[in-house]
Amino acid sequence: MDILETAESLKEKHASGNPETPLHNNVATLVFEKPSLRTRLSFEAAMTHLGGSASFFSGKDAGLYGRESLPDIARVISGYSDVVVLRTFSQELITDFCEWSSCPVINGLSDAYHPCQALTDLFTIRESFGALTNEKLVFVGDGNNVSASLALLTSMLGLPMTLACPAGYELPADFMARLNEACPKSQFTQTNDPVAAVKDADVIYTDVWASMGQEEEEEKRKKDFADFQVTAALLAEAPSDCRFMHDLPAKRGLEVTDDAMESPNSIVFQQAENRMHLAKGLLTWIVTKAH
Ligand code: CP
Ligand code: NVA
Repeated sequence: MDILETAESLKEKHASGNPETPLHNNVATLVFEKPSLRTRLSFEAAMTHLGGSASFFSGKDAGLYGRESLPDIARVISGYSDVVVLRTFSQELITDFCEWSSCPVINGLSDAYHPCQALTDLFTIRESFGALTNEKLVFVGDGNNVSASLALLTSMLGLPMTLACPAGYELPADFMARLNEACPKSQFTQTNDPVAAVKDADVIYTDVWASMGQEEEEEKRKKDFADFQVTAALLAEAPSDCRFMHDLPAKRGLEVTDDAMESPNSIVFQQAENRMHLAKGLLTWIVTKAH
């Protein structure tokens, strides 16, 4: 909640023309193994707004693939930086980096998690509904990094969430065990029936069917997910004020149709802009805490 509140306050100050620069002279280093539009630019813009700067490296340029060892890279990068943002394939690379880093490390997406996205999404839901009360999030799509982080965060905040996915694409059993251990009162459920799931949804959410790194499965997934497309007709099965969200990039015509993306209930571009406001709140919270 501290992160969401810091983001809200910084967003208001930015809008009122009285921006704050709590990270004056601070340096963020971004190392990304995968492509990015929103995550990279939101962190870079956030650091500029906060009075600091950001440097971006591909995994190759940072030397991740054999130029030098990860413990050496992590100690060097963190010695120059106040915070590091990593986007990786393996979650393990992030946890290994953390062991050697002398500054905080933010997960900017791994195969397993996308916490900055989930934080932004809860920030956006709170903004859209005025408060987080008992809004139900129905994720129609894959049991992937985005739905995993949303399941974790909604459970931590006591909100209901349902993942509607084809059989075999549920969140992995080891993740579910960790979720239920960390949040015994979790109201997270999984189903294979998207139409029934959205009947009492406050938010319908979707993401790509094949995530980065799963390109070879794309054709099979198109068939397996065919009944899980978010369309205006599916939105019409939900209450009339139900919001539609997508973390983007969207593959229009696959997981979502134009009529859902452009529907009056769609808040996807408010959600995308909020990546920057959330990044500002998160950076300020994490760097201030570490200093
Ligand atoms: N939603 C999101 O993380 O977008 P990018 O992959 O463009 O960063
Ligand atoms: N699940 C998607 C999210 C992209 C922001 C992926 O990992 O490619």
